[in-house]
Amino acid sequence: MYKKHRKNSEYSKGPHLILIGFMGSGKTSIGRGLSYKLRRAFHDTDRMIEEKEGMSISEIFASKGESAFRQMETEVLREIRDDRIGRIYSLGGGTPVRMENQPLIKKCGTVCYLRITAEEVYERLKGDTTRPLLQCDDPLSRIRELIAKRGPAYERCADIIVDTGSISRDQVMEAILEELRKLGWDIPVIEKTEKEENEDTGDQRTEP
Ligand code: S3P
Repeated sequence: MYKKHRKNSEYSKGPHLILIGFMGSGKTSIGRGLSYKLRRAFHDTDRMIEEKEGMSISEIFASKGESAFRQMETEVLREIRDDRIGRIYSLGGGTPVRMENQPLIKKCGTVCYLRITAEEVYERLKGDTTRPLLQCDDPLSRIRELIAKRGPAYERCADIIVDTGSISRDQVMEAILEELRKLGWDIPVIEKTEKEENEDTGDQRTEP
């Protein structure tokens, strides 16, 4: 009996919503919005790693190197797989590339790939200094090269693919919720908009 239970949990899909996609595809912003809409906690794995290490991603790359960072990503994925309370997680853009991470990601839950073009990423991240991989002379070529290389890995992991470039944040969230409904997710009905709820919370805080 115990063995059977262990086998089932080993192979069944986990309870989380996992957001994957290239840097700048909106994983964090969409994750925060969906956290409100799905009434689930949201975590960003880059922030989890930064908290554990007590330094920024750039500092980790500089002092420990990229391969140490990739190992940290795999360790965080194992923690997510073992967490049985349904949450929303956004993964760093490079996490799905490592072969051993791909089955791990799929085991964590329902995986949503936020797809974006190189040109859109470039526009969104121009001037950003927090992504070590894009600190080079020709970031657009680098982005093109990385997206071409990573696209198949993202697609292999994904249960849902949403093209994010030409539509608004709200439309991206609606598209994801629609796909989740089709997959049998129970989506809570929320009367107020995110903005209205935030305003209400703000009002209460300022009341004497
Ligand atoms: C990386 C993406 C970053 C961060 C690190 C490496 C990548 O995360 O993990 O800079 O390899 O694409 P975001 O996708 O959240 O920017």
